[in-house]
Amino acid sequence: MAEIHAPQATRARALPTEWWRSAVIYQIYPRSFADSNGDGIGDLGGVRAHLDHLEALGVDAVWFNPWYASPQADAGYDVADYRAIDPVFGTLAEAEELIREAHERGIRIIVDVVPNHSSTASPWFLEALRIGPGSASRDLFCFRAGRGEDGELPPNEWQSIFGGPAWTRTSNPDGSPGEWYLHLFAAEQPDLNWENPKVREEFEDVLRFWFDRSADGIRIDSAALLMKDPALTDFDHTDPPFPHPYTDRDEVHAVYRSWRAIADSYPEPRALIGEVWLPDADRFAAYLRPDELHTAFNFAFLGCPWEPDALRQVIDETLAVHAPVGAPPTWVLSNHDVPRHVTRYGRADTSFNLEYRQLGAPTDRTLGLRRARAAILLTLALPGSAYLYQGEELGLEEVEDIPEALRQDPMFLRTQGENLGRDGCRVPVPWSGQEPPFGFSPPDAREPWLPQPPAWRDRTVAAQTGDPDSMLELYRRALACRRGEPALGDGPFTWLPAPESVLAFSRGPQGRFVCVVNLSDRATELPMAGTVLLSSGPLDGTQLPPDTAAWVSNC
Ligand code: NOJ
Ligand code: CA
Repeated sequence: MAEIHAPQATRARALPTEWWRSAVIYQIYPRSFADSNGDGIGDLGGVRAHLDHLEALGVDAVWFNPWYASPQADAGYDVADYRAIDPVFGTLAEAEELIREAHERGIRIIVDVVPNHSSTASPWFLEALRIGPGSASRDLFCFRAGRGEDGELPPNEWQSIFGGPAWTRTSNPDGSPGEWYLHLFAAEQPDLNWENPKVREEFEDVLRFWFDRSADGIRIDSAALLMKDPALTDFDHTDPPFPHPYTDRDEVHAVYRSWRAIADSYPEPRALIGEVWLPDADRFAAYLRPDELHTAFNFAFLGCPWEPDALRQVIDETLAVHAPVGAPPTWVLSNHDVPRHVTRYGRADTSFNLEYRQLGAPTDRTLGLRRARAAILLTLALPGSAYLYQGEELGLEEVEDIPEALRQDPMFLRTQGENLGRDGCRVPVPWSGQEPPFGFSPPDAREPWLPQPPAWRDRTVAAQTGDPDSMLELYRRALACRRGEPALGDGPFTWLPAPESVLAFSRGPQGRFVCVVNLSDRATELPMAGTVLLSSGPLDGTQLPPDTAAWVSNC
């Protein structure tokens, strides 16, 4: 391992007002982070007990996947009450305490707001069913009469993103077959009607609710999907286009402009972060205009293969898309919806896209790990902010052999198992010990909600702490170095000349910080003189081995 000359990190370094421009944001999937009460499901008590881990890692902020009251039909993305914490996770008082404790450690908190859909268990939806067709309550959702003689056919052929029809038929209050409602995801997630001003007011209030509780930002679920085509224009459902033509309407931007005004009305900075899956760069950038969202996830980078030309192109395109709107780019390798990147990078085809998950394709973990180590140095050196998904700092792989009976993802259930879904990247985090639950739960607890592989005894936080070759220590060093290096985060970026299949770029006004990534199959001479601050694997003198990255100071 290369020697480190990184400046010492200090938590005292003040974060800038627009902290999201450079932040490293750690994603917590609460069900799988840590379980404090022994029911086998992660909770807020578990997070509070492990804030030390986040502080030692050196992240600037944490984004929580939904923690709200929910029947958990889609792991909390079916929200019944946006102002209450689900009892499985804890209480609102605990969430407030957690925000306070995180702030004491200099860690900001981002909550997940899910505006596209609600839950069939929400008071609004229950009332809409009770009161019946034509009511103001029904107009909060997308209810329509069915087609066919008795309305027995769905209003159109739109398909759910999780598989199957995007419509479910209801019964009238008298028990007779009734209207259908739209759900772009699971049937338990009815879409809200964003044409209705009451829906807009409700979410403005939800934003204030969390900002008043000192949340530093919100992550907006399915941000481009809110406004539907009112004509319900159909298309060939055997070959549905992506993005879906009935969404991403211009009207949605008025919603985010009003949210931005709310965020800006707070004296402390509040971030708006969008989940915007749109392949069209211009339409994507439209969400990042100066009076709309601050940042959005970079799914093009997340899906990019481990290939020099493709990476270079995606980096160039990302910078080009963000520059005109003045928004900082973001970089992400994994999240709770996609196969873990250690597994992806170990495959013959290292790309990812939503229609091409490759679950079960052969993978070489050693190769995937080596590339993942290099990839995090690349990611953290790029301009803007970066997202880490819990467990990637441990080098966790996708768990692909979860027994069918234990799988919980509606994507798996709604496709009758054809799509294995996302459970494999949601397996509970291993903290310590030699066997499951690896410190995830206290002694004598129920089994974790998804089984952990026995091999994870080598991947626990305890096993990796202090091992200079471990993934965890690489992440800690990289984040400490990034925190102490003003050239990193937001700021200038310049490609440098480099041998074929090697990416090299400098950062900072004088270009004194350099990142080099060798994507070729042979060792390469470092293309510049300087001090190696950090490398993802051992260097051979000044030779950088294949699938290895180095950070170099050339002053
Ligand atoms: C995107 C979220 O990341 C995913 O986990 C969820 O299933 C869908 N939106 C629906 O809310
Ligand atoms: Ca629990």
